[in-house]
Amino acid sequence: MQTIRCFIAVDISPEIKDRISSLISHVASQVPRGSVRWVERVNLHLTLKFLGEIQSVRANGIQKALDLVLGAIPAFDLSIAGAGLFPSARKPRIIWLGILPAHDVSLLAAKVDNAMQSLGFESEDRPFSPHLTIGRVSRDVSESALPAIAEVVLKNQPGEIGMIRIQAVTLFRSDLRPQGPIYTPLAHVQLADGKSPNPC
Ligand code: 2AM
Repeated sequence: MQTIRCFIAVDISPEIKDRISSLISHVASQVPRGSVRWVERVNLHLTLKFLGEIQSVRANGIQKALDLVLGAIPAFDLSIAGAGLFPSARKPRIIWLGILPAHDVSLLAAKVDNAMQSLGFESEDRPFSPHLTIGRVSRDVSESALPAIAEVVLKNQPGEIGMIRIQAVTLFRSDLRPQGPIYTPLAHVQLADGKSPNPC
């Protein structure tokens, strides 16, 4: 049986991707080359739920389960603003942009999580922390070099990068390649008054 690595996310508009890309270029030029794997413009997204390896035949059922819950949630706006680091600025591993307000998107993530739980996926044991990952610190960066990377990120804190209208959620397939992941949309599921994006 064929398996595929999947996750559920909100896609970002080309205009916002451009703005985030400019910010990434600006920050990337100030940290040692190779110390951070920056997210490619085309791959920028807001993860709602990571599913891991699934049997490819399950994609249809996932889309239907999402349709059932998301069709009742009205589209809403989010602002992308600020930058931060997981797990901490002392030992950063993930570099992210903030998502505001947290409440609506957390509710959306909870609905997605519940829908996936009904299909047998494990529920998240940590509270959802809305963020948009823009970089991952390389494993081979020494611990002593980590705070300097965090300092550059925090020094370049963006204000509001822009608003995004959340009107659909996408089931993505992720193929991990040495050159970086390739994300392929498998299904778009609309929120209540979401307009249909380009078909997959
Ligand atoms: P992130 O945005 O929080 O980093 C696609 O791989 C997305 O799924 C990533 O952007 C990441 O979300 C999330 N992801 C990848 N591997 C994961 C894992 N093992 N556990 C949880 N989320 C993961």
